Amino acid sequence: PATSLQDIVGHAKEYGFVFPSSEIYDGLQAVYDYGQNGVELKNNLKAAWWKAMTQLHDNIVGIDAAIFMHPLTWKASGHVDGFNDPMIDNKDSKKRYRADQLLEAKAEQYAAEGQPEKGQALLAEMGRLLSAEDLDGVRELIIAENIKCQVSGTTNWTEVRQFNLMFSTQVGSVAEDSSLIYLRPETAQGIFVNFLNVQKSGRMKIPFGIAQIGKAFRNEIVARQFIFRMREFEQMEMQFFIRPGTEMAWYESWKEARMKFHKAIGLPVEKLKFHDHEKLAHYANAAVDIEFEFPFGFREIEGIHSRTDFDLRNHQELSKKKQQYFDSDLNEDGKPYGNYIPYVVETSVGADRLFLATFCNAYTSETVGEGENAKERTYLKLHPALAPFKAAVLPLVKKDGLAEKAQAIANSLKSAFRTTYDDGAAIGKRYTRQDLIGTPFCIAVDYQTMEDDTVTIRHRDTMEQERVPISELKEKIGYQVAI
Ligand code: GAP
Repeated sequence: PATSLQDIVGHAKEYGFVFPSSEIYDGLQAVYDYGQNGVELKNNLKAAWWKAMTQLHDNIVGIDAAIFMHPLTWKASGHVDGFNDPMIDNKDSKKRYRADQLLEAKAEQYAAEGQPEKGQALLAEMGRLLSAEDLDGVRELIIAENIKCQVSGTTNWTEVRQFNLMFSTQVGSVAEDSSLIYLRPETAQGIFVNFLNVQKSGRMKIPFGIAQIGKAFRNEIVARQFIFRMREFEQMEMQFFIRPGTEMAWYESWKEARMKFHKAIGLPVEKLKFHDHEKLAHYANAAVDIEFEFPFGFREIEGIHSRTDFDLRNHQELSKKKQQYFDSDLNEDGKPYGNYIPYVVETSVGADRLFLATFCNAYTSETVGEGENAKERTYLKLHPALAPFKAAVLPLVKKDGLAEKAQAIANSLKSAFRTTYDDGAAIGKRYTRQDLIGTPFCIAVDYQTMEDDTVTIRHRDTMEQERVPISELKEKIGYQVAI
């Protein structure tokens, strides 16, 4: 049977990848904690992204900006006025929905019933109404489509209201002196406000990029689907600063580069696709999503946006500080391009969504053996570079010096890659434990090891074993655990 989201949630919890936040108090909606294995997988994903961005590109550098920013930042970025979702409540159940998601679900239903054109028309009409900010029109459309609340089963809807997704808090302890600030809803603005700091201190020449990994916060109205839509999450964003007029070429080139990254970390081609935006965000003149096929369908994992000079121009206006770059390269007339506000192409991927995509893709449950010997085998087919442990060293038995030998091997590998040691149960059971957390290589120490210093490597996906000298382990495994 196909993997369900329940399988994923259950496995993630049972094997120390993801726990509900503050679970002993029954959790906090749309907030999750990463466990002992989850944090390793997530860190490995972040390291792969960081390397792909900053190490493999001479002209991209990283920063780590604060979560709190001056409140005018969010005025300039458009988030104070425009970062809203249309919200609607059912009067009977008091259940809250996103109006656009109700209509999208209806469109999906039309498509599933073999009427995709009807679904398309509905989405187009919704797009038109939302762009015109015709919220009454959106409500009428929901009623005309006879969309019912899942809980009450009625169509008794309130009006549609815009709901701002930013969380706010106060800085300063004395009420009169305190001011309202926001938790950043995207990491991007920390990069925009530091554009000139980095450009000047790093003597960066356009085109160049700034990359950042960090937390972002959104008060999502409907938080569903596990770590897909969270209220506190992590983004990996890169702003690429370019000469105006070159944005479409860079947009295309980043589209391809980012798709290549997802393939390189092991997401299969057939589960990835581009999805062009019909409705552009307030800052973009071209935008595309990279979607992954989750158990609940194709959904966005990354956005690539051509943001023009929207952000820098608005920051210049509100801060009264010039956000210009002097381009000394010569144009067709042999003159320097001179001063301008750069354009920006952005790549923005959620670390948690990438985690979920990787985890769903890796989760494998299959029948091995035949007839009476047939049994279910579950393992995580993670790219070795992403796996929490790269190797596990397992003595066949604890006695006759095998345990000490195995421990010494584990210690000798630890500094090269993350290695664990386990002597706790029958060897078959220990292989299974490693399979369940995705360890790609299990090294078994047996009586032959004591004679000739060789061990077996058991490969997670094929379960095949090969005999290798201890002295070759570091190199043999080491070259397979990098991306
Ligand atoms: N700076 C552009 C920006 O923030 P976005 O499409 O709103 O664009 C980018 O977000 C990525 O951040 C998404 O593709 C997704 O992976 C991730 N993301 C956004 N909201 C999220 C949420 N509530 N929970 C988890 N990840 C989220």
